Amino acid sequence: MGDLDKLEAALVRRFGEEDAARLPASGLNPMMLEALTRMTARGSARKFRPDPVDLGLVKLVAAAAFSAPTKSDLQQRDLIIIQAPDQRAALNALLETQPWAADAPLMLVICGNHRRQRRLHELRGREFVNDHLDAFFNAAVDGGVLLSALVTAAEAVGLGCCPVSAIRNHSEEASKLLNLPELVFPVAALALGWPSETPEISPRLPLSATLHLDHYNDDGEAETIEAYDARRHAVQPYDKQRFPKRFGVSEAYGWSEDKARQYAAPERAGFGAFVRDKGFKLC
Ligand SMILES: Cc1cc2nc3c(=O)[nH]c(=O)nc-3n(C[C@H](O)[C@H](O)[C@H](O)COP(=O)(O)O)c2cc1C
Repeated sequence: MGDLDKLEAALVRRFGEEDAARLPASGLNPMMLEALTRMTARGSARKFRPDPVDLGLVKLVAAAAFSAPTKSDLQQRDLIIIQAPDQRAALNALLETQPWAADAPLMLVICGNHRRQRRLHELRGREFVNDHLDAFFNAAVDGGVLLSALVTAAEAVGLGCCPVSAIRNHSEEASKLLNLPELVFPVAALALGWPSETPEISPRLPLSATLHLDHYNDDGEAETIEAYDARRHAVQPYDKQRFPKRFGVSEAYGWSEDKARQYAAPERAGFGAFVRDKGFKLC
């Protein structure tokens, strides 16, 4: 398969025939095609070879990722590489809902950090007068940008990875374990290693639903979701259904049913209290 064919095949699998056909993939040089194909054909890796990942390589991947944009150049994100076996074992225990994560050769934790900004105010003797939701939001977004860039950088060197927001199921304990002070909070963990199999390309909603021109428009969204459920079911059916005792077993169990069932159960209801305890005012 040529470079262009690979990209086109990944686009079709990801977004569906109709959307992919509208994208002008031809006319790009081989380097561009390779970069876009890598991003389009990627998938989260949850199965790894036991081989260790060289710390130098991880630092290089981290350096590339920290080069991603940061809100107002504030640099409100940090990364913790979990190295010590006892520290890793304690983190694994907090990720008990993700048993696959225990076998990942390496675990990183991405943190939002507003503490450093407050230090700048102390150091420069300037009052901080923006103590409201924006302070938390900026650090959380900066953490998200770092997470995304880490995924792209890791996958560029052939590593596999998967974000793990399950760490926030136990934010308080994770915070203690990692010595996170006031105004520093976990955004997600990132499992990292050499993948033992090529991850699947997971179909996404069509671009017609998520990519808008000039104005937001969700006309016909119910039909779009129904068609997406069917397209996805044909290539990547769910192997188990959530909460069958509560909701029964559904004949046509698709993405929309899975996501609606997922958030029909309470999840991380204490996260707001945790963030407030960390010193953020969310007003
Ligand atoms: C912020 C964030 C948190 C995530 N947390 C988890 C997690 O706790 N467990 C997990 O298995 N996958 C987690 N994922 C991975 C998503 O499930 C995955 O990206 C999604 O199913 C789409 O699959 P793909 O990445 O292979 O395209 C997370 C992804 C993101 C961006």
